[in-house]
Amino acid sequence: MLTIALPKGRVGKEALDAFSRAFGREFGFAERKLILDDGDLRFLQVRNQDVPAYVYHQAADVGVVGLDVLEEQRADLVRLLDMGIGRCRVSVGARKGEGVDFTKPQLKVATKMENIARDFFSKKAVPVEIVKLYGSIELAPLVGLADVIVDIVETGETMRQNGLEPVIDIMESSAYLVANKNSFYAKKAEILDLREKLERVCRGA
Ligand code: PRP
Repeated sequence: MLTIALPKGRVGKEALDAFSRAFGREFGFAERKLILDDGDLRFLQVRNQDVPAYVYHQAADVGVVGLDVLEEQRADLVRLLDMGIGRCRVSVGARKGEGVDFTKPQLKVATKMENIARDFFSKKAVPVEIVKLYGSIELAPLVGLADVIVDIVETGETMRQNGLEPVIDIMESSAYLVANKNSFYAKKAEILDLREKLERVCRGA
């Protein structure tokens, strides 16, 4: 029996498709259901940012979550496989043509990824004030809440539509299969079998 935490939304759907192909049977959550039981697999549907908590506390044995979330939360999990889905970048965004003014005594940075942003600027020895937001980050530089943002860029459309542009890429991200450390030892054969099945269908994704 394996419990698998999947993120809600598009990446979760793509991950469930990969599981369906890997096991040769169709998995799908019923409307508004958060648990899907199918044979010896149990899928949980959780918020993307909550996947590491479910896996770390062993409410799930394994999970699928973006590398950006893993890095931001510094989650102590076993990284098993880059599934190659949900590809995006974490970038510094600024108003078009303005770049980042590194000469400022302190940069105001709006982001939902506080740790990634803080680490990036501290490595450059740039003093920052972080403004923690939970969404619509692109708005911040437009209304004077921040000088720049650190955010996810997928197509780049949200920045473009709001007169911003990515100026520095901090990291590439995609969805990873991760495991709880204790589960990985207790259910090693099952988890490695799952990893192998998924690797076969995700290769080339
Ligand atoms: C993410 C991210 C950007 C957008 C990037 O937002 O924070 O706003 O997607 O995608 P794009 O480059 O394809 O335009 P999300 O949809 O998760 O909403 P949120 O900002 O409210 O969290």
